[in-house]
Amino acid sequence: MNEETPRPPRRKRYSGKNPRRFEDKYKERNPERYGETVAKVIASGKTPAGSHIPILVDECLESLQLTPGMTGIDGTLGYGGHAAKILGCISPDGKLIGLDLDPVELPKTENRLRALGYDEERFEAVRSNYAGIAKVIAQRGITGVDFIFADLGCSSMQFDDPSRGFSFKTSGPLDMRMNPNRGVSAADWLEKISAEKLEIALHDHSDEPRAESLATALAGRKFSGTIQLAHAIRDAVRESDEDEMQLTVRRVFQAIRIAVNEEFVALDAFLRVLPDCLKSGARAAILTFHSGEDRRVKQAFKAGIRSGIFSEMNEQVITAGPEERRLNPRSSSAKLRWVKKS
Ligand SMILES: C[S@@+](CC[C@H](N)C(=O)[O-])C[C@H]1O[C@@H](n2cnc3c(N)ncnc32)[C@H](O)[C@@H]1O
Repeated sequence: MNEETPRPPRRKRYSGKNPRRFEDKYKERNPERYGETVAKVIASGKTPAGSHIPILVDECLESLQLTPGMTGIDGTLGYGGHAAKILGCISPDGKLIGLDLDPVELPKTENRLRALGYDEERFEAVRSNYAGIAKVIAQRGITGVDFIFADLGCSSMQFDDPSRGFSFKTSGPLDMRMNPNRGVSAADWLEKISAEKLEIALHDHSDEPRAESLATALAGRKFSGTIQLAHAIRDAVRESDEDEMQLTVRRVFQAIRIAVNEEFVALDAFLRVLPDCLKSGARAAILTFHSGEDRRVKQAFKAGIRSGIFSEMNEQVITAGPEERRLNPRSSSAKLRWVKKS
């Protein structure tokens, strides 16, 4: 490099032993280059930045009863953790169609799975809402698939990236859209919502016990970012202790995220068409993370058993054991249910 050539900008050093900010965690976001760092992060019970640890993997595979040659759908591709394992079970001649509505993460996941050796014939990534699963299947000339899997909610990549605006722990724009190209941001949604509608959302989406007073405090206000909203929530419940405040912030963020992404609308539509998308004897397995999701899945599966569309479902809901909970705290609220089509 001669004197005229400008030096490339230096990466800013982070202070302290462990990087705290997402932007500083460049080693965790490069597992191919910094495998040892990533392994250490996982062993410490954390999810490496920019990735997602799949939950209840063995239990999901067991529930779906996968065999080589099967064709099926992963309705929530995410990082592709479950998808990679599913592909391992249905290979060498099976086919997985992976859906996700996130245009930021989907191409990265597609590349990751291609790098594992799965070409278009074995794996297809489709940017679609899982509510449109019947159309995705019909467009491919398939009448029914051998399995359907869904792992509901957001991925760790979405939560951890401050620019996506999902987390109350990091400063970012108040967005929360899984597909940032569609719909309205959380900030716009909150600014336009009435206190009555916000109260219903807080109640229905996260069983918030102080839905009424929080709705009065937050509805119709303009928040510039995630931290400003978190402060306003804490302020509205300032008589609570620290733990309760944290839980309230978590519940309010969850309720707004569900509303902005119309998550229950999509889940209800998905559950309605699910039986028609399965072949006779095929299975579906769904992982849920809170009561609003689990209630819907349980009721749909039970109704299917009563009507005879489904012949079997798991009696006891499947949850993560203590070791998985320790290694991946996000698994603590997971519930897995499966059904078999008659
Ligand atoms: C919990 S993550 C899935 C993680 C994945 N199983 C893995 O092992 O990496 C949920 C994913 O579903 C996607 N998603 C959420 N709602 C969706 C919907 N209605 N249709 C399609 N994808 C959706 C999110 O964008 C996110 O990537």
